[in-house]
Amino acid sequence: MTNNQEKKFYEKTPAERRAILGKKFGLSADELKAMAADARPEGAQMVENYLTDYRLPEGVVTGLVVNGKEYTVPMAIEEPSVIAAACNGARMTAYAGGVTAEKADRLMIGQVVMENIANPYLYRNHLLKQKDEILKIANDAYPSIQQYGGGAVGIRVRCPEDFVVLDLLVNVVDAMGANTVNTMAEAVGRWLSSKGQTVVAAILSNYATDSLQSVSVALEFPDVATDQMKGADVAARIADLSFLAQVDSYRAATHNKGIMNGIDAVLIAAGNDWRAVESGAQAYAAMEGQYRGLATWHVVGDKLIGKMTLPMAVGTVGGSIGARQLTATNAKISQIKSVPELAAVAASVGLVQNLAALRALASTGIQEGHMKLQYRVVAMRVGATAEEAGPLADRLAHLDHVDEDVSKEELSKLRKEQGHD
Ligand code: MEV
Repeated sequence: MTNNQEKKFYEKTPAERRAILGKKFGLSADELKAMAADARPEGAQMVENYLTDYRLPEGVVTGLVVNGKEYTVPMAIEEPSVIAAACNGARMTAYAGGVTAEKADRLMIGQVVMENIANPYLYRNHLLKQKDEILKIANDAYPSIQQYGGGAVGIRVRCPEDFVVLDLLVNVVDAMGANTVNTMAEAVGRWLSSKGQTVVAAILSNYATDSLQSVSVALEFPDVATDQMKGADVAARIADLSFLAQVDSYRAATHNKGIMNGIDAVLIAAGNDWRAVESGAQAYAAMEGQYRGLATWHVVGDKLIGKMTLPMAVGTVGGSIGARQLTATNAKISQIKSVPELAAVAASVGLVQNLAALRALASTGIQEGHMKLQYRVVAMRVGATAEEAGPLADRLAHLDHVDEDVSKEELSKLRKEQGHD
């Protein structure tokens, strides 16, 4: 590049980009300094037009028992109450022996979509007969996966409306597998094109119905009792709320949001593509045409039984998992060694997260616990230091009405009382 040729924005260094944006959008010297402090050289290799890292608070859920093993699991999330609720749910379920996670299937799906097929159902049978050749084309396109015991292992052919969809089933071993599956699907797509078919798309499906994870727990009523309510009453309310999430999409969306609060936070800390799992989970929630809550709770005899099944397309290698030191550190903390273990633990966090939310809704409501933590965030927002945030949050919790002005007033009162003003 010659000197007089202006570099395009994407060709500039992160520092140059920050300076340009600083000028254009009036960012202060402090703001630019903070962005520079959080920037990492690796970041520029990960995304286009990199500026800095956007950080999230990370904590751990402690005492989570899954299949008899106790876990401490890192979670990265900005919502103050989520990890507290996960710990609460983990504690309740641990009393009951913990969560049971079934051994999950682990195949990813690559879709090769065709259109303009004269007779889709005849063509479907024709494709099914060519299974061995199709699998060979797929495996030849990504041979390295076979060294790890994986590869394309099966096909299915579906005919939604006028399309013919060839689903390639791929064992991606420990990876999330998007690259492997896309490479294989595209190779099969090229082969079908060479045979004169109109291939519309060749891409992984995030509706990972061949990677379903089931988790369950059986609680005694006293495990869910609160100071004000007997365990049997709380359990009955939890079961009612669970039923509501099966029949009312408005409630189901929030029920599932609570579940994904836990799952997403675990997956972010594990360096996984949580949007992939999120979209698969949401599709699974609507698989019968009615969008439903993913976890269900029933009172059976003297027990509260919770169950959940959802697609869990996770990985412990590949993608951007290796690009952050913290992901490796988190894996040491969680002691999760394999994909089935990560799927089991993440789904378990989702289930206990749901239990904690429903128990709070069934008894005191969630605002009491939520607001205690939320007030700390409000405190920081109005300028409280880390030391002042706790005492200020306690003061705010005792007021009838809290807004930013009230919080500022309380902060200055606190400072006066502490002799800092
Ligand atoms: C908040 O992030 C999640 C909850 O609303 C979930 C629920 O209502 O089940 C507490």
